[in-house]
Amino acid sequence: MAKSTGGDGRAKPRERKLISSTLEAALNAQIGREFGASLEYVSIASYFDRSSLPQLADFFYRQADEEKMHAMKFVHFVNDSGGEVAIPAIPAARHAFVSAEDAVNAALAWEHAVTGHINDLMGTALDERNFIAQQFLQWFVAEQLEEVASIGELLATVERAGEGNLLAVEDYVARRPQAAAEPAP
Ligand SMILES: [Fe+2]
Ligand SMILES: [Fe+2]
Repeated sequence: MAKSTGGDGRAKPRERKLISSTLEAALNAQIGREFGASLEYVSIASYFDRSSLPQLADFFYRQADEEKMHAMKFVHFVNDSGGEVAIPAIPAARHAFVSAEDAVNAALAWEHAVTGHINDLMGTALDERNFIAQQFLQWFVAEQLEEVASIGELLATVERAGEGNLLAVEDYVARRPQAAAEPAP
């Protein structure tokens, strides 16, 4: 960094960040997972799109947009906290699904995995007594409850309807109230 020495030639203390390097690394990993979730959902949406199930496709295209918004929330938080955003490699998204149940089940598994990672992040923020990070992460704790509940309900509906009756699921998705638009990150 250019500003490592002051006018008197002595080293200036390093600018203080609001997040530790441990938290910074964990937040960067989470940015990768949120972008990864977005790609997974584009992939699941595409499976439904090519299966001529437009409501299910739209549901997952919207989820994909939400995950990108989540990633951007983390990006802004790391930047606002004086950290450095370093986006990791994103694994290829799974693209082959054998059934609607398989595709929705993959989404639910993702949400459970993400919930575990959000809990781990919150655990680190608690251990470090980082109250700013805790407050930021609280939004994601509440969001995960909503995501696991809504995708779990969708999976139960797919299972109840069966693969031969997915038009009933289309109807369910079409009638389902949509979550209010999120404020821009
Ligand atoms: Fe997310
Ligand atoms: Fe999610």
